[in-house]
Amino acid sequence: MAQPALFTSFRMRDVTLANRIVVSPMGMHSAVDGVAGDWHLMHLGQFAVSGVGLVITEAVAVEPRGRVSRCCLGLWNDSQVEGLKRVLGFCRQHGNARFGIQLNHSGRKGSVGTSWEGQKAVAPADGGWELLGPSALAYPGRNLPKVMDKGDIAQAIADFAGAATRADKAGFDLIELHAAHGYLLHNFLSPITNRRDDDYGGSADNRMRFVLEVFDAVRAAFPAGKAIGVRVSATDWIEGGWNEAETVALSRKLAERGCDYMCVSSGGIAPEQKITVRPLYQVPFAEQVRTEAGIPTMAIGLITQAADANAIVGEGKADLVALARGMLYNPRWAWHAAEALGAEADFPVQYDRAHPSMRDSAAFNFYRERKAEG
Ligand SMILES: Cc1cc2nc3c(=O)[nH]c(=O)nc-3n(C[C@H](O)[C@H](O)[C@H](O)COP(=O)(O)O)c2cc1C
Repeated sequence: MAQPALFTSFRMRDVTLANRIVVSPMGMHSAVDGVAGDWHLMHLGQFAVSGVGLVITEAVAVEPRGRVSRCCLGLWNDSQVEGLKRVLGFCRQHGNARFGIQLNHSGRKGSVGTSWEGQKAVAPADGGWELLGPSALAYPGRNLPKVMDKGDIAQAIADFAGAATRADKAGFDLIELHAAHGYLLHNFLSPITNRRDDDYGGSADNRMRFVLEVFDAVRAAFPAGKAIGVRVSATDWIEGGWNEAETVALSRKLAERGCDYMCVSSGGIAPEQKITVRPLYQVPFAEQVRTEAGIPTMAIGLITQAADANAIVGEGKADLVALARGMLYNPRWAWHAAEALGAEADFPVQYDRAHPSMRDSAAFNFYRERKAEG
């Protein structure tokens, strides 16, 4: 019997995912000095045994000023590598999901409290830090960024590459570069935040330059058999902002450079964005990038139903489907989707007695035999 599209495998370079279901990056604001601890062990560990194909960590800062809050994960030193190595080792010991890491620099949106503290700006005098950005334009209510000079740009590129090397040491299969949601890479892409008049600003090609240079440096630093994707905001949802056509153009350039997928999100650059949020509202962006730029895409945003996720893949709108809040609410989402679609998702042996086929012992024996055969 043919597997439903959502449960077919997907390969990027040497990385094969068992199915198309992805746990989307979610900031936990629970690290100390950027080092992963027991919360991350529990949080990522539960997804390792959840039957999904790929789990992507929260946004991990490539340098201290690149954190969103003081409690973000970081990857600029060896203790941070060790922390993530411990978490990944634990996940791999018990589960079969593949693991990606999202690398980020928070740009003009950094130095805020945690989400449960309301993400209010923290001034340098109160333990916050200097922000960086392409131009001296503050996100309303937050600290004013320092305008990055050529030296700062070169340093940021080196920071991303250094973090990519450490991500490999920690054992990740995949890197996702965070170029969405109003953080540094997006700050360069968008004319709302980038008012430079040098070769990193002005024309769309110039605004894309920093992201492409970061991509090239990260690609060079990460083993050729491992995958790299980029998360973008397809549109700023603001008149005169970054838009879908520019997203397609950027995706084409990234595809030519060996990018393995685009995760197509939207918004986040400034509060004046006008978005009508509804189920599947970002899927058309993933479809447009996939069709027009010829690169695999990951759809994200208010995808909660198994039938919808299966149709997104089956109808060629995206290659991968990511869920964030739906996974926090129901970390066994993939099991339920498998049952609804008549497929199998990875199920740890220790939990076999909860498998749907256990409801009928003859079917359970059949399931056990099939599992034993591999
Ligand atoms: C708690 C939480 C933390 C998040 N942190 C990140 C993050 O670190 N990086 C990122 O790209 N998106 C982040 N997001 C956005 C999600 O990855 C996702 O794009 C968004 O929630 C929409 O998907 P959903 O409707 O399935 O939740 C976060 C979302 C949540 C709920």
